[in-house]
Amino acid sequence: MITGDPRIRMNEIRTTLTADEMPRRWYNILPDLPEPLAPPLHPGTKKPIDAKMLEPVFPKGLIAQEMSPERYIDIPSEVLEAYLLVNRPSPLQRAKRLEAALKTPAKIYFKREDLSPAGSHKTNTSLAQAYYNMKEGVENLSTETGAGQWGTALSFACNYFGLGCRVFMVRASYDQKPYRREMMRVYGATVAPSPSDKTEFGRKMLAKDPNHPGSLGIAISEAMESAVKDGNTKYSLGSVLNHVMLHQTIIGQETMLQFKKLDEVPDYMVGCVGGGSNFAGFTFPSIGEQLKKKKTKTEFVAVEPKSVPSLTAGTFEYDFGDTAGMTPLLLMYTLGHDFIPSPIHAGGLRYHGAAPTVSNLVKNKVVKPVAFDQKEVFDAAVMFAKAEGIIPAPETSHAIKAVVELALEAKRKKEKKIIAMNFSGHGLLDLGGYQQYLDGKMT
Ligand SMILES: Cc1ncc(COP(=O)(O)O)c(C=O)c1O
Repeated sequence: MITGDPRIRMNEIRTTLTADEMPRRWYNILPDLPEPLAPPLHPGTKKPIDAKMLEPVFPKGLIAQEMSPERYIDIPSEVLEAYLLVNRPSPLQRAKRLEAALKTPAKIYFKREDLSPAGSHKTNTSLAQAYYNMKEGVENLSTETGAGQWGTALSFACNYFGLGCRVFMVRASYDQKPYRREMMRVYGATVAPSPSDKTEFGRKMLAKDPNHPGSLGIAISEAMESAVKDGNTKYSLGSVLNHVMLHQTIIGQETMLQFKKLDEVPDYMVGCVGGGSNFAGFTFPSIGEQLKKKKTKTEFVAVEPKSVPSLTAGTFEYDFGDTAGMTPLLLMYTLGHDFIPSPIHAGGLRYHGAAPTVSNLVKNKVVKPVAFDQKEVFDAAVMFAKAEGIIPAPETSHAIKAVVELALEAKRKKEKKIIAMNFSGHGLLDLGGYQQYLDGKMT
């Protein structure tokens, strides 16, 4: 019998949870942050905004979550059921072959967020957001997408809960990733390359440069303009905001249960950061424990591209979330809202800022940020794919690169460290990037 075979601990290679073991609440880190989160400011008056001001853009249910002081918020049963459809609870897997390839004494675990039909962690919040909008009678959602992962996840969720979906996709990705676009259209969404001729702001950008590669900041401006001007449409954001981080904490809570089953505590928890949502979802439940008990040993490592170094080289100040200056001002690490990143393949990491919650934890030295070049990130991605058979998204590959570095350090120091990473998505629709890498054309 396999389970009784003493040669191998099967559950150490893949630790699973049953559907009944799935957490029933999201964890809100706001009451546990080392210093209170500074309020968002009105873009015009520069005074703190209140809930009413957000109502043209978001449904009341999500606004309440954005500002909630409650440590736990129940997940509605309709959303729990939808989570089963996106393969929650997701397995925690041991990367034994990667350990062997690196000849490291460290143990490496990765949390499988690539198994949702959309291919990433983003459905954890898209389903919740579509649900609360549907409950309040909203008919359409508009959004931006960088790599296309978020747009796919929201298209999927809007289709699930019967809403229309309009996606502004950063032009560089729209051209690089045509199959992402088609996936969104299969789920019934309309997709425009951003900057587009569909909005005033998009037309302004195109007038300056007809071949503008776009940026997440510009696409956010377009999606917000569309939400405010088009009837019964609200706006939806795939990262950065508190309620998005909240929805993603299903990941970290599952991970904690899985490490409990293994009777282990990770020395490192690693995630890539674009706006910060998969990193937050993976780490916040453990960070919350650490902040309350102040004694767990885990170190939290946030990984970003060297070409978009908001956490490692940005300034901590109030800035707009978008390029046009339509969003409230958020206190965060930022490269400036008019920063246009180079068109790297990790489209989801091309954002000028980072979530205020994640920024707060970096500033207070609870989270350590690191940055890597695209080429070394793809080296690590291909090494992982060969070892474990799974082709990672370019965004996820940033976390893999950091894990490889930590595992090699453990080897040098002969330490049996336990390293856990969030495997935020697969790269099956990012093969253009791999092609460039394999053909030796990546710089
Ligand atoms: C697979 C994947 N990982 C990570 C990210 C970065 O976003 P975030 O920092 O919000 O997790 C994205 C964004 O599109 C993504 O698609």
